[in-house]
Amino acid sequence: MKIAIIGAGDVGGTLAKRFEEVGHRVFLGVRDENKPKVKRLLSKNISAHSISEAVKNADVIVTAADPRATKEIAKHMGDISGKVIIDVMNAFRGVPKPYGTTTEALLAYTNTKDIVRCFNTTGFKNMENPIYKGEKIDMFVGGDSTRGKKIATKLAKQIGFGKIYDLGGNESFILMEQIVIVWVELSKILGRDIAIKILQR
Ligand SMILES: NC(=O)c1ccc[n+]([C@@H]2O[C@H](COP(=O)([O-])OP(=O)(O)OC[C@H]3O[C@@H](n4cnc5c(N)ncnc54)[C@H](OP(=O)(O)O)[C@@H]3O)[C@@H](O)[C@H]2O)c1
Repeated sequence: MKIAIIGAGDVGGTLAKRFEEVGHRVFLGVRDENKPKVKRLLSKNISAHSISEAVKNADVIVTAADPRATKEIAKHMGDISGKVIIDVMNAFRGVPKPYGTTTEALLAYTNTKDIVRCFNTTGFKNMENPIYKGEKIDMFVGGDSTRGKKIATKLAKQIGFGKIYDLGGNESFILMEQIVIVWVELSKILGRDIAIKILQR
């Protein structure tokens, strides 16, 4: 797959490396291609571009930047009809008002309806290594786009997550924001080496 990742921070950088490892081509969409943090990520299948160039090259776009920049990023993306967005952003640093989540804001600001949420419910270290004592941890996906959820599920499985639970349509975006709040609160007590795994009798 050709994947554009917007943001090359903890999440964007981690997912870029993981997607490359499982055979994908990654186009980082960044503000400054010459930043040392960005340059360190470059390799045979990871290159850095402006946001508009990165999304032009890709079929799937992963948004992993500062949530306060959602509107600006959408503007830079331009025409992305037919492309899938997987939104990994949480709005801790600021809800993109009047929307409750970055995903709803992206639906309003871009011209693709294939926008889903995935990977946002856990810490970036768990994206780097989703295996605990031989057990694969779980992941969640949500959104109206069946096509988007299929792609996000495939990527999550490829990088090592266990079960990928479909939490429903666009109404699940806020629930997925709440799941990460549970994870963050628990991590304050237990540290960040924790993950969510659903048990079924
Ligand atoms: N950290 C986690 O464990 C985790 C887990 C799940 C979800 N998330 C969510 O994922 C998102 C990213 O988190 P992070 O931890 O990766 O943050 P981070 O390390 O601070 O990285 C943020 C990235 O956003 C970019 N950015 C900021 N403003 C931008 C703009 N106007 N246009 C384009 N890019 C811009 C930054 O680029 P510059 O270098 O140019 O500033 C940087 O690459 C957040 O919404 C966070 O809540 C984080």
